[in-house]
Amino acid sequence: MAAQIAEAAQKLSLAETVYIDEVAGDDSTGTGSETAPFKTVLKAIESKGENIKIQIKKDAEGYKDISGAALKKAKKSFAEQQKKAKKMQEQQKKQDDDLKKKADDEAKAIELAKSIVLVEDESLPKAEKIKIRQSTEKRSKRVKVSGWVHRLRVQGKDMMFIILRDGSGYLQCVLTGKLCHTFDAVTLTIESTVTIWGVINELPEGKTAPGNHELVADYWEIVGKAPGGDDAFSNKVTADADPYYLLDNRHLVLRGETASAVLRARAEVIKAFRAFYDEEQFTEVTPPCMVQTQVEGGSTLFSFNYYGEEAYLTQSSQLYLETCLPSLGDVFCLAESYRAEKSHTRRHLSEYSHLEAEMAFVQFDDLLDHLENMICFVIDRSLADKKTAELIKQLNPDFVKPSRPFLRMKYEDAITYLKENEIKKEDGSYYQFGEDIPEAPERAMTDKIGRPIFLTHFPAEIKAFYMQKVPGDRRVTESVDVLMPGVGEIVGGSMRMDNREELLEAYGTAGIDPAPYYWYTDQRKYGTTPHGGYGLGVERFLAWLLNRYTVRDCSLYPRFTGRCTP
Ligand code: 4AD
Repeated sequence: MAAQIAEAAQKLSLAETVYIDEVAGDDSTGTGSETAPFKTVLKAIESKGENIKIQIKKDAEGYKDISGAALKKAKKSFAEQQKKAKKMQEQQKKQDDDLKKKADDEAKAIELAKSIVLVEDESLPKAEKIKIRQSTEKRSKRVKVSGWVHRLRVQGKDMMFIILRDGSGYLQCVLTGKLCHTFDAVTLTIESTVTIWGVINELPEGKTAPGNHELVADYWEIVGKAPGGDDAFSNKVTADADPYYLLDNRHLVLRGETASAVLRARAEVIKAFRAFYDEEQFTEVTPPCMVQTQVEGGSTLFSFNYYGEEAYLTQSSQLYLETCLPSLGDVFCLAESYRAEKSHTRRHLSEYSHLEAEMAFVQFDDLLDHLENMICFVIDRSLADKKTAELIKQLNPDFVKPSRPFLRMKYEDAITYLKENEIKKEDGSYYQFGEDIPEAPERAMTDKIGRPIFLTHFPAEIKAFYMQKVPGDRRVTESVDVLMPGVGEIVGGSMRMDNREELLEAYGTAGIDPAPYYWYTDQRKYGTTPHGGYGLGVERFLAWLLNRYTVRDCSLYPRFTGRCTP
């Protein structure tokens, strides 16, 4: 025993002396010397081991031998710390091993899958190539369908559900057994393109899928594989992504159920407008987009160099439509209009689809009746068509057709309405007759009234130069804005000045050089007529009908301040 104590004492006497200053020491920069002491005993043991002599300083008194109890406590903490670190190391190793095993298993499965080759069973009836929209009529027959993997659900090793999309609809396809074991099957990603052979069967009671049927596959092929991992479609298009990022990726967003439903509804609504004009025997014309005249004020013109001359992108085809009346009678066009709008609002685009029409030998009330008929025709037709009605229900489940007749309200009465309803200007004052009613108060009024409004008889000075003045009250024009709850103005229309002298005077008041407008003025020279027309913003109409927050969602590739891509 004495020998052991002597040995321990000798070991200690050989041991390094380590300094700890609990006040001024530093565990990160200290070395344990007297001049660069550590701050804690634990650090000293960690870096120098347990066989050390410790001199500790707790206050100004100077270094002393560490007490036995303090040393014991520090050694215990050190041992615990070491134990914890070891445990963590073991856990980490297990995790790494598990991951490696999983990756190895996957690699093996993929290698194995590469050796599995599918062969179409020649004994089966020849498959007919169909579009998904034909699925119901082609039930129980062998078909082949090509499309994009819209959704994918793998159930165990032997079953895969694909919701296939081909632009004409969605179709659930079930792949079983060997069909799920190939390399293409085990690496399949959404948005990949595939062709699937099989038979479409009605679903048994209690199961649901689009069209209430599913294609039971007997063979399939990959056409083009979409990426997985970070570049996977589902990582690019997410519901919570920044709107600008989504606009950069609009080409991918369009594949989604909502965006594609809007575009589909848009196509149907445009068909309905055309059907209305067809029924009313209007002729469709296609006016130019490159022009040298303005229609709605110089501030929103996009100009460009046209073989050395200044030209503009059209703001409205109205002036050209007016020139068609003498040869074609009532006319309409659906063309893009361009506005260099500085306003960054949810209802302004720089390029929008403008549906415009012009009618000869009409009075202002005829124009208003025609507009109400047109809007109601389009709504009725859209709701009567099963496919369109479903799209409206999907996008705007609470839609109810507005009741007729639409409210007709004079601008002058709107000024009174704003006052009575305490809808004021930013500076707290009330709007006065003659002032433009901007977007915010206009929307506040429309939303409060909660139904379509034909706002009429705007003062001449806040409207375009070509508008006909009211015969008995020349302060105001025979003009109309159609306002819809949630969106505001969707249509702007008016009767047009049909007197040549009055028009020439109007050019002057608006500061417009009449020379380039000779062809427009000539309409009043070679057989004038009372006439009127309007322009409807297709994206605004859709934003209202489909309850979209912004017109940008109703455009294929929206253009607005700062965005001209993709
Ligand atoms: O009221 P606006 O400017 O009228 C005209 O252009 C007339 N020349 C039309 C005519 O009488 N033939 O525009 C008509 C409609 C608006 O009511 C609105 O729906 C839409 O065009 N519109 C816009 N839509 C999206 N973005 C913009 N920047 C728009 N500017 C007008």
